[in-house]
Amino acid sequence: MKLLRIDSSARRNAVSRQLTGHFAEAWLNEHPEGEILERDLASTPLPHITDEFVQAMYTDPAARTAAQQQAIALSDTLIEEVLAADTIVIGAPMYNFSVSAPLKAWIDQIVRGGKTVLFGPAGPEGQVKDKKVFVITTRGGAYRPGTPTERFDYQEPYLRHVLAFIGLTDVTFIYAENQKPGPQAEVAKAAAIAQIAHHAAEQSSSLV
Ligand SMILES: Cc1cc2nc3c(=O)[nH]c(=O)nc-3n(C[C@H](O)[C@H](O)[C@H](O)COP(=O)(O)O)c2cc1C
Repeated sequence: MKLLRIDSSARRNAVSRQLTGHFAEAWLNEHPEGEILERDLASTPLPHITDEFVQAMYTDPAARTAAQQQAIALSDTLIEEVLAADTIVIGAPMYNFSVSAPLKAWIDQIVRGGKTVLFGPAGPEGQVKDKKVFVITTRGGAYRPGTPTERFDYQEPYLRHVLAFIGLTDVTFIYAENQKPGPQAEVAKAAAIAQIAHHAAEQSSSLV
């Protein structure tokens, strides 16, 4: 079993990084033989896609120029990491009502026409199947349904849509909201840790 852990906060001691750490620990308890691959998008930033990248995406691999091959090689590696994983956990801080730029850069590398999504007569068909995804989102405010700010959440709807676009439809969100300084922050973080433990136990009961 393989877990791919993605972190995308700019902050070293980020709440999302602490929570993906809890998740990885709980997952390893349930899968002692499992392997964890960590991709910290802040400590090893990904490049933005380029003209050569886009040309490579629409060129038969055998016909790509050396520059095109070079531009798309990292994307191939990142896609292999996704395809090899059974479970993916994504630490996703809310930045300016959406995802952080490092997470968007990762998405631009792994959402690839002709590879992770194919376009047929019935429309786009995601090729990344049979994986569980957990998104651990940290936010200064609160955006859950029923809050006055729910309409400003451009993070969860976007992530759900783009992940489903490549076939990742089994997606569970774990929320640590209200992380602005104040008494609610620790309460929300503790609730997220409890949710992580609950999902880890759920995974172990689905194994028996
Ligand atoms: C650049 C930046 C933009 C942010 N934008 C938002 C925002 O739009 N909405 C919000 O609720 N919190 C926002 N926050 C607060 C963070 O979501 C919050 O501090 C969260 O805990 C950050 O996650 P982390 O601890 O995993 O880094 C922002 C923080 C930063 C640094």
